[in-house]
Amino acid sequence: MAATFPLPTAQSATSVILVTGGCGYIGSHFVVQLLETGYGVVVVDDLSNSTTESIRRAETIAQRAILSFYQVSVCDTNALRRVFELYEFDAVIHFAGLKSVAESVSDPLSYYSGNVGGMVSLMSVMKEFGVFKLVFSSSATVYGHPHYLPIDESHPLTPTNPYGHSKLMCEQVARDMCRSDPRFKVALLRYFNPIGAHSSALIGESPLSTPNNLLPCITQVLASRLPALRVFGTDWPTHDGTGVRDFVHVVDLASAHLRAVRVLGQVDGQRRKEAKEAKKAKEAKEAKEPKEKEKDGNCFTWNIGTGQGYSVMQIVRAAESASRKTVPLVLSPPRPGDCAHVVANPSLANSQLRWSPKFGVDEMVRSAWEFQKWNPEGYNAGVDLLPVTRGASDNYAPVVLSICANDDTTPTRVCSNLLGLFSYSNAHKRTKSCTEVSISGTTSYSASAFGDDEEEDGAAKKVFGLSTRMLGV
Ligand SMILES: NC(=O)c1ccc[n+]([C@@H]2O[C@H](COP(=O)([O-])OP(=O)(O)OC[C@H]3O[C@@H](n4cnc5c(N)ncnc54)[C@H](O)[C@@H]3O)[C@@H](O)[C@H]2O)c1
Repeated sequence: MAATFPLPTAQSATSVILVTGGCGYIGSHFVVQLLETGYGVVVVDDLSNSTTESIRRAETIAQRAILSFYQVSVCDTNALRRVFELYEFDAVIHFAGLKSVAESVSDPLSYYSGNVGGMVSLMSVMKEFGVFKLVFSSSATVYGHPHYLPIDESHPLTPTNPYGHSKLMCEQVARDMCRSDPRFKVALLRYFNPIGAHSSALIGESPLSTPNNLLPCITQVLASRLPALRVFGTDWPTHDGTGVRDFVHVVDLASAHLRAVRVLGQVDGQRRKEAKEAKKAKEAKEAKEPKEKEKDGNCFTWNIGTGQGYSVMQIVRAAESASRKTVPLVLSPPRPGDCAHVVANPSLANSQLRWSPKFGVDEMVRSAWEFQKWNPEGYNAGVDLLPVTRGASDNYAPVVLSICANDDTTPTRVCSNLLGLFSYSNAHKRTKSCTEVSISGTTSYSASAFGDDEEEDGAAKKVFGLSTRMLGV
C-alpha cells in the first residue's frame, strides 16, 4: 500500500520521538509510556505483523493521541526521508523488524534485508537529517549458547541462527556509525524474554500469524485457539527438566527504553561539558588508555532482563493458576539450537540506566492471560474501533459512560464488562462529559462511545471506539 503523508499535527510537545515498529507488541507498550510522559510521538510501521488497532488502544490508555502514523517500511529510504522532512525528531526508537528464529532459518534473506537493510536505511536517513539518538531493539539471541551464566554484556557473541546474526549485524552497523561520527549516541538493548501485557488488558501480544513465543502459545491454548502447548525438551539439566529463561514484563521493558532515551540525552550534555572543560587532557588520556566506551564511541549495550530464571513448566503452572484452566501439553524433543538455561546479568542496566524491573513472573503471566481473555482473537477479529480524532489539543476529553440498550436481551455481563473496561481510563480522571453507548442486536453486538460537545478547555472532540471482542460478547 502506498504511503500517505498527511501534514503533521501541531507539535505542542517539546520533544518528538520517532518509534519504528510502534504498532507491534513492545512498541505499542512503549508508545503508551511516551504519551503518558508527555513526548510527541510519530509511529512508522509497515504493518507486516500488526495493525494500527494497537496504537488506537495505546492512545485510549494514555488519553493522548500520537502526532502521526505512517505506513512505511524502514527499508524504504525515500519514504522514511519524507517522514523526517515533516518533524524534528529528538530520538528514534527502532523496534521495527522481523523476529522469528524459525522463519529466519527458512528465509534468511528476508531477515538480512529487512533487519540489517532496515537499520542501514534508518541510520542513513538519521545522519542526513541530523538525528543522532537511537535506541535499538537487540536480543539475547546475539549471545548464542551460554558460555557462562548469568550472561553479561561481555559474553562472547556467537549467534546460532540468521535472526541472531541479523541483530548482531545491526549492532555492528550502529557501533561503526558511532565510531565514525561522535554525534551518534546509540543504546543497544538486548532483550531477554519479554512477556505480559498492559494492566488495562487493552494492548498485549497479538501476532498476525501463529505465535512462536512461549506465552502467546500458552494463552492461545487456554483460549482454545491452539489445541495444546508443545514443550520442547523435558530432559534438560534444570530443576524440572524444561528449559529455563529470563522473562521480563513488557511494561518494564518499555520503561528501559525511556531510561535509555534520557541517558542518551545526558550523554549529549556530558560530552559538551567535557569538550569545554577538558578536551585536550581527555584526548591525551584516551590516546594512552582507550576505554570500552571510547572504543565504541557513544554506543552503549545493556542487557534487559530480570536476572531470574523460570522454567517452561513454571510458566505453564502460573498460567493455569491465573486462568483456572489446564494447559494440555505435547512433550517434544528439543529443537536444534535450544539450550537449557538463558539468564541475564542485568547489573549494568541496573546501575547505568538506573532501571530495574518492577513486575514478577506471576504478574507477567496474569496480565498476558487478561489480555487474551478480553481479546480472544487478539486484534485480528471483531475489532472495529472508530478512528481517534486528533485536533488542536492532544488530550482526550474524559468520558462518562451511560449504556442505552435497544433491546431487552442485552446480557448484563456486556454492560458490566463495558464498565469494567472503562473504569481503567476513568479511574484517574475526573469524568466530565456525557458519553453515549449503544448496543444493538442480540447475537452481533456493536458499540461505540462518543464524547459530547461539552468538553471543557476547548479540547477537541474525541471519538472512542469499542470492539465487540473487548466487550466480551
Ligand atoms: N518479542 C520478543 O521476544 C523479542 C525479543 C528480543 C528482541 N525483540 C525485538 O524487538 C523488536 C520488537 O519486537 P516485537 O515483539 O514488538 O515484535 P512485533 O512483530 O510485534 O513488532 C515489530 C513491528 O515492526 C513492524 N515491522 C516489521 N518490519 C518492518 C519494516 N521493515 N518497516 C517497518 N515496520 C516493520 C511490524 O509490523 C511490527 O508492528 C523487534 O525488532 C524484535 O526483533 C523482540
